[in-house]
Parts: sequence; C-alpha cells; structure tokens
Amino acid sequence: MPWSSIDEVLFAAHLQVTLAAVETAMEQQQLDTLVIQAGDSRFAFQDDQACPFRVNPWFAWLVPAPPAPGSLIELRGGQSPKLLFVVPNDYWHSPPAPPAGAWTGHFEIQVFPTAAAAIAALQCTAGATAWIGESAPPQASWQVNPEQLLAELVQARCHKTGYELACLREATHVGVLGHLAAEQAFRNGASEFDIHLAFLAAIRQNESELPYPAIVALNEHCATLHYQLRDTRPPRRPLSLLIDAGASCRGYGSDITRSCAMIPGVFAALIDGMHNLQQELCEAVAPGIDWRQLHLRAHRLVAQLLRDAGVLRLSAEAAVATGASSVFLPHGLGHLLGLQVHDVGGFAARAGAPPIPRPEGHPALRLTRCLEAGMVVTVEPGLYFIDSLLQGLRAGPQADAVNWTLVETLRPCGGIRIEDNVLVTAAGHENLTRTAFADAS
Ligand code: GLY
Ligand code: MN
Ligand code: MN
Repeated sequence: MPWSSIDEVLFAAHLQVTLAAVETAMEQQQLDTLVIQAGDSRFAFQDDQACPFRVNPWFAWLVPAPPAPGSLIELRGGQSPKLLFVVPNDYWHSPPAPPAGAWTGHFEIQVFPTAAAAIAALQCTAGATAWIGESAPPQASWQVNPEQLLAELVQARCHKTGYELACLREATHVGVLGHLAAEQAFRNGASEFDIHLAFLAAIRQNESELPYPAIVALNEHCATLHYQLRDTRPPRRPLSLLIDAGASCRGYGSDITRSCAMIPGVFAALIDGMHNLQQELCEAVAPGIDWRQLHLRAHRLVAQLLRDAGVLRLSAEAAVATGASSVFLPHGLGHLLGLQVHDVGGFAARAGAPPIPRPEGHPALRLTRCLEAGMVVTVEPGLYFIDSLLQGLRAGPQADAVNWTLVETLRPCGGIRIEDNVLVTAAGHENLTRTAFADAS
C-alpha cells in the first residue's frame, strides 16, 4: 500500500516510541549494541527450492522494508539506527527493491550484495552486544535472543502505536473485502479451492503474503479447527462455510472468521446465536478485564446456546464445570494480534513476572492476562461437532445430557466460528472488523 503523509507522521512517532523502548531495555541489560537480523532464506531438504520467507517480527517492528533475507538493523545507544540492507546480485530471482520512501530518512542505510558483506560492515567490534535472530550470530561472545531484553520488548509490542493501528485497520479493511467475495463464491456453489481464489483475488495479495494460511472449509470440514486442505470440487450439497482468513499490511495481519449456512434451519439459527453472543463478548472488552474470565463466560454462553437449541440438556454452569462445553469449544476465546497472528505477550502481566496460568481444563487459551488499552485482541467463540471429542462425551458420564439425534443432523455442517479484531481503548473498545464490514456494505 502506498504511504500517505499521515502514515509518514504515524511511522515517525511509532519509531520514536519503539526505539525509546529498545534503548531503555538495552540500558537495563547493559548492552552497547543490539543487532536484529531479518532472517535467512531456507531451502527444502537437499533441494535448491526456497521455502517462503517470513521476516523476523522484531525486524518488521522497526523497519517496514520489503522482505530482504540477511538484512540487519544495528542499534547503538545515542546513535541513529543503521539499516544494513541486502540486495543480492541475482538474475534468477527479482531482488528486493532497495529501501525507498520517507521512512528511510530515519535510518542510516547501506546496501550490500550479500548477507556476509552486511555482517562484515557491522560496527560493534567491542562492547556488550546482543543479537535477535533465528540463526547463530557472527560472534560467539554475543548474547543470543536474551530473555530479559525480549521480555521488556514484548511488553512494548503488546501496546500498539497509531502507526500499527493504521496498519491493522488497513489489513482488516482489505481482509473484509476478501470475506465478502468468499461468501458470494460459497452462495454460487464454489469449491473450497475456488472460494480461496475468490478471497485472494478480492484482497489482491499472494498466498505467501497472508498473515497465516487461510482456513476455507465446507460442510463437515468446518469441524477441523485449522483445516488446511482445499478441495477443488464442491461438495454434492454445500451446507456451510467457515472461512478464517486475513490480509496483511506492512507485516501486520488481520484474523477474521465468518460462518455461513446455505439454507435457514437449526444450523443457521446457531450461527445467528453465535453472532449475538460474540457481540456480547466484544462489548465486554475494556481495560482491566481478566481474559480468563471472559473466556469462561464465552463457554457459558456457548453452552447456553447449545441448551437453547436442544443439543445439551445440562445447565450452562454444569456444562462448563464438567468439561462438556470444551467438547464443543476446544480452543481459546482469542489472542493478541499484531505482527504475528498469535502475537507475543499473552501470559506475563509485565516483564519478569511469571506467566499467568490458564484455567484448569482450558489448555488452548493463548491469553491469560488482564486487558490494557492499546492491545488488539481477537474475539472468536465457536462451536464444532468434532467426531473424536464427541466420542469421548458419548462414552462419559454426560452422555445422557446430549441430544445425539440432533447432533447427527448438525454434524454434516461441521462447526461455527465468528472472529473479530478488537482494539482495547481507554474508554472500552473499538471493533475494527465490524467497522470494516459496515464500511464495505
Ligand atoms: N487464524 C487462527 C486463529 O484464529 O487463531
Ligand atoms: Mn482466525
Ligand atoms: Mn484468531
């Protein structure tokens, strides 16, 4: 996306805040230099075929350049940040375009033809140096991914700057265009494969640019939480669609899920009920809210929905207490979102604090702390008819509390998930996804 003058102002402020956080953390750890590596190209085993490159998120946090394996950021107290950018002399592939645009004015930039040349140009020959990167540092004496430094920086990454929010808003806006196209393709009887293509065509992004592999599921495939296959042929009778897919903007990704039913009926009513309870949960998002409690509330609401639909005969409280609700909702209510789809910082309330444990019986929860203004979270309740989990329920003491005939009629529809991206504000929250859907219609 081209940069507007607002983006430039926002990025300047973003860099000031992030560099201040880095400098404070470096002082605390008594570091003279920090080197952040963009990452290395990787190849398939005994092959010359490169795997898709994913930039080190710590690099993308500071530098919005196109992906360039081997590039380095060198940060030294009191000096302007250096970007050592690698543009290989390669006629087999298109090399990354050298950095351009107003953001480059904040860096001292040098361009090198190889990663080795960039490493050789690093200034930090003496003093305490740390390295953030997946490969080994060039000098054995350097600290590698130091835990305490990263713990400090993780806290900074949890609170999004205005620039990061602009990126997330754009990623959401673009992702929503994909979702609208995907629903249309579903209603026209398209296969999973073709719905995926409709999504990509609408967002104008390559598959390798997506923040995570899109989950495009029809019928019983909607019961596989991260379903990754995409049938090229449509099912004989398309009943349901679950699409969990996002778009990217300068490394930031949206994470959006919608479920649709082809015809009215019990399953369609469950989707309506899921939208309603999901909105209730989104409305509760505010600073100070304990995410573990909101997750448990989601379980009670889903259990009540199943009870109202006649699937469960247990009270909502009993369904949660006995673990029956987890058979239908075996994932967490949501997670932090940012440069990584499951973003860092979900467990410790501050740097150095111990991780806050998940509630017992809820091992998949990725966020256990209290919400703070500036965090962006996903709110993604769901319910699924997953054979392997239903078998356990059927063999256990709660078997009689389930209407198995109704479960059989719903099983071919697979499951439901509704997922929005929500910013925690000082006054409460802003639902980025619902705003983008409203703007697009
Ligand atoms: N798209 C993966 C997730 O929702 O967590
Ligand atoms: Mn998702
Ligand atoms: Mn998610």
